[in-house]
Order: sequence, then C-alpha cells, then structure tokens
Amino acid sequence: MSVSTRSPAPAATTRRTPAPLPADDGAPGSAGRDFEFDDRDFRRVVDLIRQRAGIALADGKRDMVYGRLSRRLRALGLRSFKDYLDQLERDGGDEWQAFTNALTTNLTSFFREPHHFERLQEELAKRRHDGPLKIWSCAASTGEEPYSIAITACEAYGTLTPPVTILATDVDTQVLATGERGVYPVERIAGLDDTLKRRYFQRGSGPNEGKCRVHPALRQLIDFRPLNLLTARYDVAGPFTAVFCRNVMIYFDKPTQRGILARLVPHLADDGMLYTGHSENYLHAADIIQPCGRTLYRRVGTGA
Ligand SMILES: C[S@@+](CC[C@H](N)C(=O)[O-])C[C@H]1O[C@@H](n2cnc3c(N)ncnc32)[C@H](O)[C@@H]1O
Repeated sequence: MSVSTRSPAPAATTRRTPAPLPADDGAPGSAGRDFEFDDRDFRRVVDLIRQRAGIALADGKRDMVYGRLSRRLRALGLRSFKDYLDQLERDGGDEWQAFTNALTTNLTSFFREPHHFERLQEELAKRRHDGPLKIWSCAASTGEEPYSIAITACEAYGTLTPPVTILATDVDTQVLATGERGVYPVERIAGLDDTLKRRYFQRGSGPNEGKCRVHPALRQLIDFRPLNLLTARYDVAGPFTAVFCRNVMIYFDKPTQRGILARLVPHLADDGMLYTGHSENYLHAADIIQPCGRTLYRRVGTGA
C-alpha cells in the first residue's frame, strides 16, 4: 500500500480566519476599529515578533496583526495597542507566548506536498533492517505533518508499531496542543485514500460527529514539544534520517534561514535528508546543504 493520496491533497486550510477590516489601517481610532492602532504600534509588533520568532512581517500584514492581537487586548481588557505593548514589554510573562501564538501562520494539511511522503516511504523501506530511526518535523503546526510521517512509517513497515520515533516541534504552543489531541474535522482527511482513512482514523459519533481521531498507535510514535528555531542550540536527540522543515523558512530573512540551517543540519544522519517547502530556495546556503531531489537536500560534505 502506497501512501499516495487518492486525489490531489485537500486545499490547505488555516486555523484562523482574519477578521475583515477597513482599508484604512494606519490612523488611531480608524473607522470600525475597537482599539487604537497606529503605525508606531505596528512597527513595535514587527520588531518584537522578529526578535522572538524570527518572523518578518511585511507592511501588508497590518490588518492581520490588528485582527489577531485585538483578541488579546479584548481578553486582557485593554483599550489600545500601546497599552498592550507597554504591558508586554514591561512584564510580559506568559503573554509573550500568547503574543507569539497569535502571530504565527499555521497553514498545513495531511500529506501536503505528497511527493515527500512517497520519497520518505522509499527511504524508510531501504533502511528496514537498520534498527530504530528518528524523524523530526520542526515546524509541525497542528500535527498533520507529523501524523502523515507516522502513517508513512506504518505503511513502510507494514505495522502500527514501526521502529520509528517522530519529534514534532513548533514555536506555537496552541497548535502543538491540537497536534497532541489528534482530533480533526473530517473534512481534513477528505482527500485521503479510503484505506488510509479506515486504517488510521476513527470517526467520532454523538457529540463528536463530524470529527475524526488519529489512531492512538500513531500518537504513540510522536513526541510533541515546543522549540523555537531561533534558539542558539537545539536540544534534540538525533541523528535524524529525515528532517521536515517545510513552509516555515519563508517567514524568515536569509541570514536567519542560514543560521537555522547551520544549526539543523548537524542533527541529520550522514545519509539523512532535509525536506523543504515548495517555495523555499537555498541557493544562498550552498555551503551548508546541497540539493538531492525535488525540494530535498543533504548536508554538504557527507559524501552520501
Ligand atoms: C505554515 S506552517 C507549516 C506547517 C507544516 N510544516 C507544513 O508545511 O504544512 C508554519 C509553522 O511554523 C511555525 N513557526 C514559525 N516560526 C517558528 C519558529 N521560530 N520556530 C519554530 N516554529 C516556527 C508556525 O508556528 C507554524 O506552525
């Protein structure tokens, strides 16, 4: 049984729907807005999220920032972005995590970029007799990516208990909690092959109608934990046969990308591969990684 999806992967969906906002997004007290939000506030947010998570927010993200952070202001009973940002910088505490969670973009889907899972299945099949293997999904979002890896491993070994462990990390603790729960609206698996649906998902009934839960055996293969790719040292136990670092580097500038790659690739096994997003390009990091397939890379200097 191959892990190929029956039809093109379902359109990726995101957990957040940005609130429609008026075009005038700079002036304090803009029409239709509940909170004061001016250019200086936006610049502060841009600087703070860049420092915390490396995310480079373009000018066009003003409405998105307003929509997402205004929920935090409402929750905290604050009246202006200035008050919120002053409080955050003065004694942020747990609010720093809420601030970060609010500003990440978590678009993902099961078997997104299906060719990666076909290749992974081949790579795992080649190593069937190599003993336990480790795989890292380093921007795991709500869990669809690590669960797709887990299903691929089960298919490669023909068992629900393959000798594979998966580390799933993300800077956003809210999406990790969704991943840990492993419960999704059934529409999220609509595009999957029926055999995979039956084998790896349990349909909810009664109050859980319309939801599906991943098979508990998949959950057993995955360790979900927070990890910020900006941190100077990754406390992870490799070496990894595969590192999935997909659709996250697009949010970082090139120097940040290079720093992350330099810290990631030492955790790859000599014959391990880095799986990257379809719009991520690493020509500027040819001294760190070299292409070895469609959006696949190996560490430079392994001779693999
Ligand atoms: C668009 S999703 C990609 C999810 C999945 N890899 C995929 O391709 O479907 C990007 C994820 O990167 C995470 N992220 C953003 N900045 C990060 C950072 N500094 N460290 C770790 N994860 C980060 C976000 O929280 C988000 O869940």
